Amino acid sequence: MSEMQEKKPRVRTEMSPDGDMIRRVREINDRAADETGVRPAAFVLTFGCQQNEADSEHIAGMCRDMGYTVTDTPEQAALIMVNTCAIREHAEKKALSIVGQYKHLKAKNPSLLIGVCGCMVAQEHRREQLKHSYPYVDFVFGTTVLHQFPALLYDKMQSGRRRFCADVADHVVPENMPVVRESGYRAWVSIMYGCNNFCSYCIVPYVRGRERSRRREEIVAEVKELVNSGYRDITLLGQNVNSYAKGSDWGYDFADLLAALDAIEGDFTLRFMTSHPKDASSHLIDVMARGKHIAHHFHLPMQSGSDAILKKMNRHYDRARYLAIVKELRERIPDITLTSDIIVGFPGESEQDFEDTLDMLRTVRFDMLYSFIYSARKGTPAAEMVQIPPEVQGARFDRLLALQNEIAAEKNIALVGQTVRVLCDGASKNDENYCSGRTDGNKIVLFHGDAKALTGQFVWVKIDRAEPFALYGELRK
Ligand code: 5AD
Ligand code: SF4
Repeated sequence: MSEMQEKKPRVRTEMSPDGDMIRRVREINDRAADETGVRPAAFVLTFGCQQNEADSEHIAGMCRDMGYTVTDTPEQAALIMVNTCAIREHAEKKALSIVGQYKHLKAKNPSLLIGVCGCMVAQEHRREQLKHSYPYVDFVFGTTVLHQFPALLYDKMQSGRRRFCADVADHVVPENMPVVRESGYRAWVSIMYGCNNFCSYCIVPYVRGRERSRRREEIVAEVKELVNSGYRDITLLGQNVNSYAKGSDWGYDFADLLAALDAIEGDFTLRFMTSHPKDASSHLIDVMARGKHIAHHFHLPMQSGSDAILKKMNRHYDRARYLAIVKELRERIPDITLTSDIIVGFPGESEQDFEDTLDMLRTVRFDMLYSFIYSARKGTPAAEMVQIPPEVQGARFDRLLALQNEIAAEKNIALVGQTVRVLCDGASKNDENYCSGRTDGNKIVLFHGDAKALTGQFVWVKIDRAEPFALYGELRK
């Protein structure tokens, strides 16, 4: 990843996929469709975070424009794209194992093309591994060059040569990207790319490059169009949305962007993730408190409750600062839902450091936590520190979950008797007798109703029962 660490000039280029390349691939696929009577299909598999899901929707969009249908069965595909994650070792292992399974598909169908993209392959050692140990992988490119996908695919189709793109274009801001969205009512909107924070455990700044933001006009236009075409729930995405437009001379920041989006007319909810406590401002909390459309939900990764560990993580805040933000949020927005990310077993975490994290959980009482066992990432500073034995990490992780489950259950019980607004996602996957949906605070609610008619609609549900991970209730007319 050495190429990522070089100092680059602060340029920023808006870029779209090459229309000529898209047209040329489409011509090849049109001919194939004419000859065989079947249009070639593309299968896109996604690992990792919402940013990757958003990227995959653009991959699917480019595939559609290049003349593919989009399929959800890899066996029927003429093109398989695996969009990978690198945040923890487990994510990389899963992606490599799936790519390994596609060897058999390629053996059955030698004309099948397999592309691997995303965060994992932005690392040189993983590109090398794919090049040498996965000879049936045809082309590879990292997250910063998503717009080059049509050109890489066309090159492979024409020349037959495998392509392992090592380009890092972390000055690029993609615009006018084709898109096929998974949902007709929930949408992701990337507002910025990359990260400058270099938290000592995190691979993201190396694989996604430096921070760069989209212009407010472009984002407002995209959100307006989404609202006008019936989208009800719009999540603004960035690794650290609070530093949106930082360092620019645009004269506006994230809170101003949010206020501009909140002013759009229509029936919709705005969310954003992820925030960094060091940049969460009173201005932002004020815009949220006054907002018409902004969900009363704040996802504020704390990572650890120990000041010593936060320092080693390079997080630039301490317990006191974190608690001050929580206090301000709860004073200004009393019904705010608070969620967080926690890393357990960071190098050097003592029993007392871990107790400090549990203490913060008891003090803040998060509605929900995303907790992770620390995973050493090659090339990051924390990977060089003295590691905690896995059995200690595992035992602490279990203790953290047990405490959080108690807190979440109590917080959910407190909602019994309340009537909450829910965006319906259709029939519950676990129990078809129920409709499932999410509150403004992103809590899952199960209720009886006509799943078909209610999917994508806001409904009001009176909560009558609470489980640790779901609320149950009845529809209110
Ligand atoms: N190990 C474990 N968890 C990690 N995260 C980021 N890097 C690592 C790592 N090396 C977690 C952080 C972050 C979330 C998206 O993933 O909690 O907020
Ligand atoms: Fe990783 Fe920290 Fe950037 Fe989040 S803010 S992406 S945890 S480096």
